[in-house]
Order: sequence, then C-alpha cells, then structure tokens
Amino acid sequence: MLKNTISLVTGSASGLGRATVERIISSGGKAIICDLPSQAELADKIISDLGSDNVKFSPCDVTSPDDVTAALDLAESNFGAVNAAISCAGIATASKTLGRKGPHSLEMFSNVLQVNTTGTFNVIRLASERMSTLEPDANGQRGVIINTASIAAYDGQVGQAAYAASKGAIVGLTLPVARDLSSIGVRCMTIAPGLFLTPLLAGLPEKVQEEMGKQIPCPRRLGDPAEFGQLVESIITNPMLNGEVIRLDGGYRMPP
Ligand SMILES: NC(=O)c1ccc[n+]([C@@H]2O[C@H](COP(=O)([O-])OP(=O)(O)OC[C@H]3O[C@@H](n4cnc5c(N)ncnc54)[C@H](O)[C@@H]3O)[C@@H](O)[C@H]2O)c1
Repeated sequence: MLKNTISLVTGSASGLGRATVERIISSGGKAIICDLPSQAELADKIISDLGSDNVKFSPCDVTSPDDVTAALDLAESNFGAVNAAISCAGIATASKTLGRKGPHSLEMFSNVLQVNTTGTFNVIRLASERMSTLEPDANGQRGVIINTASIAAYDGQVGQAAYAASKGAIVGLTLPVARDLSSIGVRCMTIAPGLFLTPLLAGLPEKVQEEMGKQIPCPRRLGDPAEFGQLVESIITNPMLNGEVIRLDGGYRMPP
C-alpha cells in the first residue's frame, strides 16, 4: 500500500508515467501529474478517469526550475511535501553520428541530454530539498527518487548516440546521488525499461508489435506499462533498494 506516498511523477500524461500515476492512486497514494502544458487535455482525462481527489495536474517542463518548483508547491499545498519523485519525462530521437546528410545535429544531441538528463537531475535536486524537511520514518528515511533510463544505456543501437548518452548519464548518476542523499535519508533508484507498449509503439501496426514482442526472451511480448508501475511501487515500499539500476526487459538485449 502507498497510503503515505505523496508523489510527483513527470511525463505522466502518457505511457509509463501515466501507468505509474494509476498504480500510485489505486494503491492509496497521492500524485502530481507533471507534464508539458500541451498535455493538459490528456492529464485532465486521466484525472477524470481516476475519479480521485488525490491527483492533480501541474503543467511543467522538467528542464525549468520554476516549473518543477511550482509542481512541488502544488503537492505541498494539496497533500504535503513529496516523499517520492519519479521521473518518466523523456524524448527519443534517431540520427546517425555521421549520416548521408552529414554529421549529427549538435542541437538535437544537446536537446535530448537537456530533457532526459538535465530534466531528471533538476527534479532530483529540487525534490530532495523538499524531502529533507520531512520527519524520518523508522528506517531514518524521508523519501525516494526513481529515475527512468532505458536498456539503450547499455545496448544503444544504430542512431541512438544521443538517446543512449542521455540514459547512460542517468545510470551513472544513480549511485552518486544515492550517496549524496544518504545523509538526509533519501534513496535513489533507476529503472531501465526494455520495450514497453506505450503510445509510441502502440501506433505501430499490430503485426509489427507482435514481431517486436517475439524478440523478447520471456515473456515473449512487449512490456505492459502497468508492470513498470508495479516496479515503482516495489521500489517505494522496499527500504533496502538504493543506488541501483534495475533492468525491466524480460531478458532482452538489443542487437546493434
Ligand atoms: N516505452 C518504452 O519502451 C521505453 C523504453 C525505455 C525507456 N523508456 C523511457 O521511459 C520514459 C517514458 O517513456 P514513454 O514510452 O512512456 O513515452 P511517452 O512519450 O508516452 O511519455 C513521455 C511523456 O514525457 C513528456 N515530456 C517530454 N518532454 C517533457 C518535458 N520537457 N517536460 C515534461 N514532460 C515532458 C511527454 O509530454 C510525454 O507525456 C522516457 O524517458 C523513455 O525514454 C521508454
């Protein structure tokens, strides 16, 4: 049960973030949906479908200190200071380091790192400050941070230099952040998902989805976003999980 969980979930108008919010609310917790203003309609729909007062929307670009601060303030004024900050906001691009049209756009490379890596760290630094104000529990813990990387951090494919770099950086910061925040009793974990059936893949023809699913050793199918939400709940509730990256991929290793 997550009845004491007050969470901020970025990128949660869609996909894995949305499934995380649904899990937290169904397990009795509270959540702020943190997503771009352009996603307001989707966020409102999630809130009305959930039919709960325990979820609110804060329009937010994760790269903006002001926006993330406003989302943390919204949590505080409605529910109290957040004790779980889950980053699911992210973007993906595909471009070769040197393609037929020339070298990889430097702007595109920086932009992917800005949203995926800097945005994640922006949430970590600002949310941990709020967590530091909370009373510790029996384990001396005040909160937990959960980031989303990707198996591309380890098995980046052709065209994924920017995306893999941005996710590799999230893997790399997991342990030092856990070490930094241990003095205030805040854990830091990262999930590295494999292939999940979020809107991006759901838009592909069913046959293509099936073929992709068959590449996964066991189970031979794409991941269900609800299974991501399930792992988030496990991480929140297990006080020994800290400073580690968990692959959630059915044993899949991506080919080049
Ligand atoms: N779906 C997969 O198979 C898969 C696999 C590995 C990793 N991931 C990672 O999981 C995370 C979620 O992926 P998804 O498949 O649910 O994607 P999605 O596109 O369905 O959801 C991502 C959400 O992030 C939001 N977002 C983008 N930029 C933002 C910003 N600057 N500020 C705030 N919100 C922003 C989008 O509006 C969107 O609602 C991403 O970080 C992605 O890289 C997904």
